[in-house]
Amino acid sequence: MHSEEWISSILKELESQSLDRHLIVRPEAGGKIHIDGKVILNFSSNDYLNLANHPVVVESSIDYVKKYGCGATASRLMSGTLSCHKELEKALAELKCYPAALVFGSGWLANAGTIPVLVERDDHIFADKLVHASIIDAIIMSRANFHRFNHNDAGHLAVLMNKCPAKGRRLVVTESVFSMDGDIAPLRQIADIAVKYNAMIMVDEAHSTGIFGSNGSGLVRELNLESLVNISMGTLSKALGGYGGFIACSESIKEVMINKARTFIYTTALPPAVIGSALGSLKVLKTNPELGKTLLNNARFFRERLNEAGLKTGSSESQIIPVMVGNPAKTLELSRELAGKNILAVAIRPPTVPAETARLRLSVTLAHTQEDMTRAATVIAECAREKGII
Ligand SMILES: Cc1ncc(COP(=O)(O)O)c(C=O)c1O
Repeated sequence: MHSEEWISSILKELESQSLDRHLIVRPEAGGKIHIDGKVILNFSSNDYLNLANHPVVVESSIDYVKKYGCGATASRLMSGTLSCHKELEKALAELKCYPAALVFGSGWLANAGTIPVLVERDDHIFADKLVHASIIDAIIMSRANFHRFNHNDAGHLAVLMNKCPAKGRRLVVTESVFSMDGDIAPLRQIADIAVKYNAMIMVDEAHSTGIFGSNGSGLVRELNLESLVNISMGTLSKALGGYGGFIACSESIKEVMINKARTFIYTTALPPAVIGSALGSLKVLKTNPELGKTLLNNARFFRERLNEAGLKTGSSESQIIPVMVGNPAKTLELSRELAGKNILAVAIRPPTVPAETARLRLSVTLAHTQEDMTRAATVIAECAREKGII
């Protein structure tokens, strides 16, 4: 087949399954978007704490650009480690209550770089069936034996670990708050099993950092599991409203990553603007320790309104609330209808979520008022009813 024909056959196949994806340009980011005097309620933003445009965060970012310039100009191991990188790593280690932290270019790069250092060919990795794509890709890159345990099922993890040959290192990976379901992993049980079978533990806290735990330290900290969880991974791009990723860990794990993690070594260090914005967000969290709790209360309010209106929200216990539809074409239709009513709720379809579990993934942010959420729940339920979804 001619290469052009082959490329268009890929797109046609995606379209025929309602799995095609398109970029839609928006004039601004965050939980509310203003277009031509209209306000769009954006339930597809990860700016949970409304910090992306917070004046303290914006000012901090500008200050760091003025002080350090626009680019780090080299990779971290060349001349790209600036004093602001050290300052942020110190602040992140303190937030997470770990001895050290190491910043990567993004959350994706933090997972992709860290996991293949911890496990290699002939080792074993145990991961929840619903972990994020960045973890799956990291596992593939590591070439370790991959054991998938049923979602949030610590008992199944124990069965798999018990069956696993003794040879090789073992690593258990899960998320604390799941990105597409908003439910919470049984971290204590998972940690106990990992310890029993002599495995390392890594927890992806992309969606709990900034929200759970004191000052947004995350769920590992809230549950006092730092001494059992070897690596707490986080991102600066969601609740912190900026960009970049990191791991919190021991000094020795940090040193090993500096020497071995390919996504840390072979790329330019994050620019001062994003380091400044992350430090600004951490400052806001410190001075407003109630932000995460307020968000979780608002999320509970929204879930209650959605459930009262007849919508199912799975087992969400966080600011991420799935509205389950199942069929990708119906999910797309619903999402498009809502867009026409100034509600942005992007359709999440396979392969991001398993087959037949297409959904709207709603994320609550501090930009949303109770009135916004009440209206959105009513409109989403009306549209879902019209389309025979509920
Ligand atoms: C659970 C999880 N881990 C990692 C990432 C990657 O983080 P980043 O967007 O900072 O690359 C994401 C983001 O989509 C995520 O949801």
